[in-house]
Amino acid sequence: MMESVWNGTVALPHFERLEGDRNTDVLIIGGGITGILCAYFLQERGIDYLLLEGEEICHGTTGNTTAKITAQHGLIYAKLLKKAGLERAKLYLEANQRAVQKYAELAAAIPCDFEERNAYVYSLDNRKKLEQEAEAYRMLGLDDEIVEPIELPFPTVGAVRMKKQAQFHPLKFISQIARTLKIYEHSFVTQLLPGKALTESGSVSYQKVIFATHFPIDNKHGAYFLKLYQHRSYVIALEQAAQIEGMYVDEAKKGMSFRSYDNLLFVGGAGHRTGKKSGNWQQLRGFASKYYPDAIERYHWAAQDCMPLDEAPYIGVYSKAMPDAYVATGFRKWGMTSAMVAAMILSDLVQGIESPYAEAFYPARNIFTKQLVCNGAESVFNLLTPTVPRCPHLGCALKWNPAERSWDCPCHGSRFSESGKLLDNPANGDRTSKLPAR
Ligand code: FES
Repeated sequence: MMESVWNGTVALPHFERLEGDRNTDVLIIGGGITGILCAYFLQERGIDYLLLEGEEICHGTTGNTTAKITAQHGLIYAKLLKKAGLERAKLYLEANQRAVQKYAELAAAIPCDFEERNAYVYSLDNRKKLEQEAEAYRMLGLDDEIVEPIELPFPTVGAVRMKKQAQFHPLKFISQIARTLKIYEHSFVTQLLPGKALTESGSVSYQKVIFATHFPIDNKHGAYFLKLYQHRSYVIALEQAAQIEGMYVDEAKKGMSFRSYDNLLFVGGAGHRTGKKSGNWQQLRGFASKYYPDAIERYHWAAQDCMPLDEAPYIGVYSKAMPDAYVATGFRKWGMTSAMVAAMILSDLVQGIESPYAEAFYPARNIFTKQLVCNGAESVFNLLTPTVPRCPHLGCALKWNPAERSWDCPCHGSRFSESGKLLDNPANGDRTSKLPAR
């Protein structure tokens, strides 16, 4: 079924809709795992906060993750050392190791299928890249190494291992964490004014605001529409496929990922920029029929991720012109650990406390990268494409996605159902004019 295993196995708590006017010190917009963890830490510290979710909590990316908790984010550390230097690379690693540890602490009291596992990045053909990453690990004080990944059903040239990472059931975890938080569901922010957010049925006056909306919703500041694009990837969950102990991801951009959960094996991949074509689930099914011919597919789903211009997410002050607004976005494929890092950093920053990790995630860092040129070119091309269906975000041409029967925007990744209902932001509402029939 087109539903993640997480959504299919847990009923999340429900919250009332905001009715009337409220005051709060910190307003959190967005009820995915990032917003919920921010709320949890603020509540722990006795800070006045309130969270507004436009639909229901975890209806987006959090419900469609593969839920790996790891500081190993692909082959990232050799790149970070080269581009950001030793100090920033160390901070990035420490922040994510602390996040893994924090999950372990919290999960000790929450039944959420939390399991300590090793994480691996494998390569089909580039041993040199693995060696460079292993060298970066040594420089950062990790004692991990390259191993032969014997659990995978195809040959590789090795895998860099990071020990003692974890996997869990994200919605079992959140269903407990969220229970006592001050959350309003079905409370979509229709207008954000300085110090006040409006919804259809009420308003919230705030001192500070955290945007935990996946893609940031304010277009005027911070240039996030240039600094981010969205990426879609696909997962199938197989029964009667060989179980694996580790969590695996290919170093190659178009590669695959694997982890086990319960009696299922997750096979992920076929990723592409949202609005572009890919092999989607068919590609994964082709792989499964070759390597796991007896397997039965129990679930299939897709995930949408925000990709920054470089290796690190954007976590911190939204922009210089909005010093009381904070953002957490651009988690790439590593949403679970990045959400925890974001909640640790932002719960300090909103209180005026300096975060030891903030520098590694500073949103206003240098943006002049190759990816910026790609994002700019993509936007110009799609703005000038004379197709009729346009995206209400900034006007790019929408592309039909036959696998998911949706209209997708290649510029920043907004998505709409056949009837025009908003599926993924940054567009902030449904398409009002009719879409061509399909
Ligand atoms: Fe920005 Fe479509 S998502 S123009």
